[in-house]
Parts: sequence; structure tokens; C-alpha cells
Amino acid sequence: MHYFRLSVLCALTVTTTPLDSAATPFPPNWNDMHTKHRWNTIPGKWESIGQPPVGTTIDLRIALRPHREHALTDTIHEVSNPKHPKYGSYLSKEQVAKLVAPHPYTLGLVETWLRHHGISSFNVSTSHGGNWLTVTGVPVSTANELLGASYQLYRYAGTNETILRTVGYALPAALHVHVQTVAPTTYFGLPLTPRKRARGHRGRAAAALSTRDVPVTPALLRSLYNSVTYQPVAMQQNMIGVAGFHGEYAGDEDLEEFMRLFRSDAKDPNFLVIDINNSGYNPQYPGSEANLDMQYTQGMAWPTPHVFYSIGGLAEEFIPDSFQPVNGNEPFLGWLEAIIGLEDVPQTIVASYGGDEQTFPPEYAKSVCELFGQLGARGVSILFASGDGGVGYGECKKNDGSDVVEFQPIFPATCPWVTSVGGTTKRPEVAAPLSSGGFSNVFKRPDYQTDAVLGFFQQLGNQHSGLYNASSRGFPDVSAQALGFVIILNDDIEYMAGTSCSAPVVAGIISLLNDYQLSQNRPVLGFLNPWLYGIASQGFNDITSGSNPGCGTDGFSAVPGWDPVTGFGTPDFQRLLERLPIPIPAPTPTN
Ligand SMILES: *[C@@H]1O[C@H](CO)[C@@H](O)[C@H](O)[C@H]1NC(C)=O
Ligand SMILES: *[C@@H]1O[C@H](CO)[C@@H](O)[C@H](O)[C@H]1NC(C)=O
Ligand SMILES: *[C@@H]1O[C@H](CO)[C@@H](O)[C@H](O)[C@H]1NC(C)=O
Ligand SMILES: *[C@@H]1O[C@H](CO)[C@@H](O)[C@H](O)[C@H]1NC(C)=O
Repeated sequence: MHYFRLSVLCALTVTTTPLDSAATPFPPNWNDMHTKHRWNTIPGKWESIGQPPVGTTIDLRIALRPHREHALTDTIHEVSNPKHPKYGSYLSKEQVAKLVAPHPYTLGLVETWLRHHGISSFNVSTSHGGNWLTVTGVPVSTANELLGASYQLYRYAGTNETILRTVGYALPAALHVHVQTVAPTTYFGLPLTPRKRARGHRGRAAAALSTRDVPVTPALLRSLYNSVTYQPVAMQQNMIGVAGFHGEYAGDEDLEEFMRLFRSDAKDPNFLVIDINNSGYNPQYPGSEANLDMQYTQGMAWPTPHVFYSIGGLAEEFIPDSFQPVNGNEPFLGWLEAIIGLEDVPQTIVASYGGDEQTFPPEYAKSVCELFGQLGARGVSILFASGDGGVGYGECKKNDGSDVVEFQPIFPATCPWVTSVGGTTKRPEVAAPLSSGGFSNVFKRPDYQTDAVLGFFQQLGNQHSGLYNASSRGFPDVSAQALGFVIILNDDIEYMAGTSCSAPVVAGIISLLNDYQLSQNRPVLGFLNPWLYGIASQGFNDITSGSNPGCGTDGFSAVPGWDPVTGFGTPDFQRLLERLPIPIPAPTPTN
């Protein structure tokens, strides 16, 4: 981790940089507080259990507006678009930091505000690639004043999971244009783990399976997706990262057993573990989600090296009487902070986690999404499971107090800088009914998918109008099998279902394609979507039947071309291999 002290960066003070003198009267009135974000009621099933103990401190993360507003977005488009001369010229960590840096005036103003509240610049450092500040050890009483907040301990009904949050927060008017979001504040949601365990299939008795349900294994997937014959060669350079939130661990003995049974050619399968935010990593207690993800990326891409991020955070149990400081407790931010801080990031990263987009404060979702964009600019392909609720779980009421029913998109799957993976089933393939898909209510439709989405709307007509947001990012982008996956958990066979199954499969295929690119001295694929929505779209098996019911409707239907159930469909490795970008001008081979 590299931290840069704010005190060094803030050589310029507010008085010497009257950059925006018309807009910002000096000195700002720090008491002129305006709401930044507030929920109508306590979100979801959280319940207040009162004030934290006296002396509790919190680490705050503050996202600042970059000085050059569109610099990151423009750069991602250049380096990720195979038709652009800069395709594949990925940025270093330091180059991205320059792109997203806030103006010194922004930094100075925020530091003045923090100092006004008695927070020394010694406790403030830049983080998350450069446009975030991390403020450590802030007493909760100070945080309440700083943010016009009322931090309390909240427990998720029926669990012992306790977090420190506020239902609303405010900022001085003078800071609204400079600060994008502050965390942890109003993001409560337990990240949903998109997984379902098939019932009645537990135990070693594979015979318990009906003949109709041919179990999905790496052998079946490699054959279905046409990757059996490819032998990875770039093991010195290539890597896959698998994110395990919620303190879940991947088991190494389970992986060995899985590979022995289902990839018998694999010798010594293994993975590195990076422990982020005290996850309490303990391979003795593997989790089904973590095992699923690790076993299927390995099953598809062995012997490509793997790293498992074991992430503590959000749902970490907080013991209210322990006087332990309550730290970030933000799973995405803790993880992204750690990854973005690395000089070398795996070229392919997969995460099978997400939650209803409406449970994320919009500015928070945008700030987190930009961090995925930073990784894209550095040449990382990020894959997220699209979710398991079709067009939405349950009643699908808006949480703004209006009770309006609308389809419920899943974040981070809706972030335009990730590739989101939906689900299919059966052979020949049809859409899996659980496959989450639809349209964001936060992110505008990115240019790369305009033609694909408009093509879908032509086929959709008026169906479901009013239930989805036609001007925004459609998801998923692609898909893969999602039902009947065999995993090994605690030395037993288990069966899993969900787009959590699909995402690692596609990540494995992408990693093999990266392996090939590296072997040809070409840049890796990086942020995939401009390529996917271009020439690569023909490298997928178009899924044209099935649908994703939810919210009391039949959901969207899979149709020819892109659709918000299966995206472009499922990968065909050999066809994708033929459609790999060859950068222009071709790079001069090294050595
Ligand atoms: C600064 O951080 C230290 C340790 O994290 C903490 O003890 C102290 O209270 C913090 N000071 C302020 C003003 O936040
Ligand atoms: C919560 O903690 C108590 C005391 O440690 C324990 O008895 C109980 O089983 C826990 N409940 C859950 C849902 O984990
Ligand atoms: C979480 O991780 C970040 C980055 O590695 C680190 O700075 C922070 O101290 C960690 N917090 C906890 C509670 O471990
Ligand atoms: C529709 O999506 C856009 C972003 O594309 C957003 O600004 C707008 O608020 C959304 N509308 C509704 C009704 O949620």
C-alpha cells in the first residue's frame, strides 16, 4: 500500500489559490450544511441498536472530484477500444493517479474543513488511486458534527452482524461540488451473494442426481465453450484474481480434490492468498461461494496462476463493548483500496457479489464504479456475476417511499466499467430463469452498447414499459451455464446454482485469451466491453430462448442479438481467439 500524506500534497492553501472565486466565497461557512444523501427509512432489515460506545472511532473515506472530469473516461475508451490507435497502451498506477487527481484547491478546501473540526492533517492520507482521502481515527462524535450525521450501530435482523452507519449525512454547501461521496455513511446493504444451493443433493452420492440433471463440471464446460485443446503458456506473466467477500475462504485441500476428480491433468493446483481487512482467513473453514469461484476459474484456466483476495469488512462482527475502532467496514472500498495500491494487478479479476442497485447511494455507486474504471485503464478485465433474481426479487418496490414497482438492477453488475455475466442452462443452451438482467437507474447507457441495446428495444416493443429505465446501462454483457455445478466443499460434493457459477467460467475463458495475447507479445484485453460489443460479439453463442421472470412479471426474453437476460450469449473460445484485437501499429516484439 502506498499512502501519500495530504500534508505534503497541500502545499497550496486556500488563500493562495482563489481558483473559483466567483463560486466559493471565502471563508466558507462550514455551518451551512446541505444534505448529501439520506434514506426515508432505515434500509432493508437493519435495525438500530443504539449509539456506539463512547470513544469509538471511525475511518472515513472521502471521494473528491477529479480535477479533469472526463479524463479517466476518455482514457478508458482510448485504451480499450480495438479501433483506437492507443488500444492496449494501458496506464501505470502513477499515470492513473495523475488522471484522477483532485485540484489542489479541492484538497486545500477539504483539509481546511477537516482542520476546522480538529482533525489533524497527520490523520489524512490519499487513497484509492489518488482522488480519495482516508481520514483515520475520527471519534464518532466528531464524525457526527462533520457530516451532520447520527451514526448508530445497526444490526441485520436475525443475525449478529453489526455495522456503524447513519441514515443520512450532509456537507457544507461549499463542499458539494468538491466531494463525491463519504463512506461509510449511508450504504448499509449486506452484499447479496448470488448463489443458491440445490437442495437434496448433498453428500457423496452423485447417484442422487436425476439423469435429467447432468452435473456441470469443468470437462463439460471446456467442451461446451470450446477451450479443451488450448494449453496456457504465459504462466510467468498471466494471473487471475478471485474476490472472496464476507470472510469466505477458498479451501486448498478442496481445490486439490476437485481438480483430482474433474481436471485430472492438473498437477499441484494452488493459489496465493491476500488477506484484506482482517478477513480471518482460515483454509480449514472453506466457504461454498469461495470454493465455487476458485474451483471453476482453476477448472477452466489451470495452470494460470491464481490469487484469492480474502476480504473482511462489512458483515464483520462488531463487538459493541470492545472499544475496538470501527474501521472502514466497506467491502468494496477496502478491497479496491488494496488492489489499486498494487503496482501489478492480475489481468483478470472475478467477483460473484452484488446487491440491489437501489440499496447503494447513487453517488457512492458512481465512486465505486470509477474505481473499477481505474483498473480498466490499467488493463484489468473485471467480471461480476449479474445476480440471481431475474428482473428482480420479491415485490420490487422502490425504496424512496413511493412504493412504485420497478425492475431491480444489481450493482456492481450495472457499473459500465465491469463486464457482467448472466446465466444459461441446458444443452443446447437457453436463458436460466434466475439470470439477473435489465437496466440501471444510476448509470447512463455507455456508447459501446448503444447499437446492441437499441436492437433489443426494437424486438421488445412496449412490453414492460415503465418498469425499466430505457436510457441507461443494460446488463448483463455475456453469460455462461448457471445450474447444476459440482463443487467440493469440506471433502463433500455439493451442487451450486446461480450466476456465481457463470462469472468464474467466463473469467477463465478471458484469462486463456489473455494468455494467448501475452504469448503473442500483444497487450491483454483489459476493459472488455468495447471489444465485446464490437468484433467479439460474434464469438459468443447467441441464446434466443428463455427469460428472466421476476417482480410478478415474465421478465425479459432472450432474443437474437444482445438481450438483458444473457447479453451476447455464451463464449466460444475458438471463435473468440479468431477475433482477438491486434493493436495498430503492431508492437515491436521484445527480445
Ligand atoms: C488520529 O489517529 C489516531 C490513531 O489512528 C487517533 O488515536 C487519533 O484520535 C486521531 N486523531 C484525530 C483528530 O482523528
Ligand atoms: C448471536 O450471538 C449469540 C451470542 O454469542 C449467539 O448465541 C447466537 O447464536 C448468535 N446468533 C446468530 C444468528 O448468529
Ligand atoms: C483495510 O485495508 C486497508 C488497505 O489494506 C488498510 O489500510 C486498513 O487499515 C484495513 N483496515 C482494517 C480494519 O484492517
Ligand atoms: C434512469 O437512469 C438515469 C441514468 O441513466 C438516471 O439519471 C435517472 O434518474 C433514472 N430514472 C429513474 C426514474 O430512476
